[in-house]
Amino acid sequence: MSVLIKNGRIVTAADDYIGDVFIEGETISALGKNLSLQADTTIDATGFLVLPGGVDPHVHLDMPFMGTFSSDTHETGTRAALFGGTTTVIDFVLQKQGHSLKEALTEWQGRATGTAVGDYSFHMAVTDFNESTRAEIREMVEREGITSFKTFMAYKGALMIDDRQMTALMQEVRKQGGMVTVHATNGDMIDYLIDQHRSEGKLSPLYHYLSQPEVTEAEASGRFADIADYTGCPGYIVHLTCEGALNAVRNATRRNQKVFVETCIQYLLLDAGLYQRDFEGAKWVMSPPLRQKKDQETLWAGINQGLVNVVATDHCPFFWKQKLMGERDFSKIPNGHPAIENRMELLYSEGVNKGRISLNKFVEVACTNPAKIFGMFPRKGTLAPGSDADIVLFDPKKQHMLSVATHHMNVDYSAYEGWELTGKVCRVFLRGQLAIDKDECLVEKGYGQFIRRAKVNGRI
Ligand code: URP
Ligand code: ZN
Ligand code: ZN
Repeated sequence: MSVLIKNGRIVTAADDYIGDVFIEGETISALGKNLSLQADTTIDATGFLVLPGGVDPHVHLDMPFMGTFSSDTHETGTRAALFGGTTTVIDFVLQKQGHSLKEALTEWQGRATGTAVGDYSFHMAVTDFNESTRAEIREMVEREGITSFKTFMAYKGALMIDDRQMTALMQEVRKQGGMVTVHATNGDMIDYLIDQHRSEGKLSPLYHYLSQPEVTEAEASGRFADIADYTGCPGYIVHLTCEGALNAVRNATRRNQKVFVETCIQYLLLDAGLYQRDFEGAKWVMSPPLRQKKDQETLWAGINQGLVNVVATDHCPFFWKQKLMGERDFSKIPNGHPAIENRMELLYSEGVNKGRISLNKFVEVACTNPAKIFGMFPRKGTLAPGSDADIVLFDPKKQHMLSVATHHMNVDYSAYEGWELTGKVCRVFLRGQLAIDKDECLVEKGYGQFIRRAKVNGRI
């Protein structure tokens, strides 16, 4: 089966030209101007952007968390991602403290295998590092193709590891050719502030925000960078939100260190003013919390300075009735918000269309860098001969509105209800198959493949 996409504006992290893309089977076999090749199907892409499929390296699907499960399964979440132009996601496997990595992986495979619609990979979250975990790191890298290890410096008592474990884990991960990623906030400080607010009867969502001040993130980001530098382990900070934390990374560059930084679409676009809306603020209760407008400016600048490498989502949706678990106590509101479907369109509309980032930068942070950093490039994240034919036809002029009434995520509110956007995903190919055609998904549950990832060396 072959497809010729003609006369589109082909945009990668480096290129921008009008041309054609030729797909044979699951991969791209040629790109260029006026390709004279016969295809089974020809598509006229005049007026459309032809982009690589998006790669969202931070999603939580069907994840047990805070006494409930995130509401998108691997089926509904990856399908919603496809509707939004994201063809590959990286989900998090969570080790249970006192149990092995392998047990956790088996559990997650049980939920994802045969159900995902779009392609996916796994990060392994190490929540209990000991001598038997150490032996499993090599197995994950060599046998399972899982080369990134997530750590939490917060969620004390559930997911958090201490600096002793962090140091030992980094030594081992470095040896095996992997990367350590981190939720970088000071868990002890946050724990204390939560207790303090609760004891004073301060229980609304606003106090979720006030329990995680900027300093908790700045301090932990610096500490993480220091330990990564000492151990020589490639490091990546997930969902970085604020000026103080980015300055900690900036400082690390002064000793010639590279720490990769991911922010998420919500931290670029939303601010802590939303926590003033009484319990409605629970829609945006996530960790770290939304910050201030000055932090948004820092993050946009950080993207253009090359300090912020990736824009992800941290998609972790909960139905309103799940959010209500914390109606009387902010510390019981399940943390997370839905965005997997909205990332590419929001970033285009608010970033490219409003002149904050270039079109090439958009592709770089939403597609190419996540694929490179996490060992999937050039199979994923670009348009090149031999790459998977994961291709988005994007209408840059189409105006539309985000709403729970039209989205495909399995959640009963939109965090961006009523936002008017310019630019919309129109068609999406996944490994050569037309997966999305406007409002229709044409691939079935189980079409999504697990993507094994290569070793990483902290360079892109
Ligand atoms: O609020 C969030 N971020 N929920 C998901 C878990 C995490 O910390 O990434
Ligand atoms: Zn986190
Ligand atoms: Zn997360």
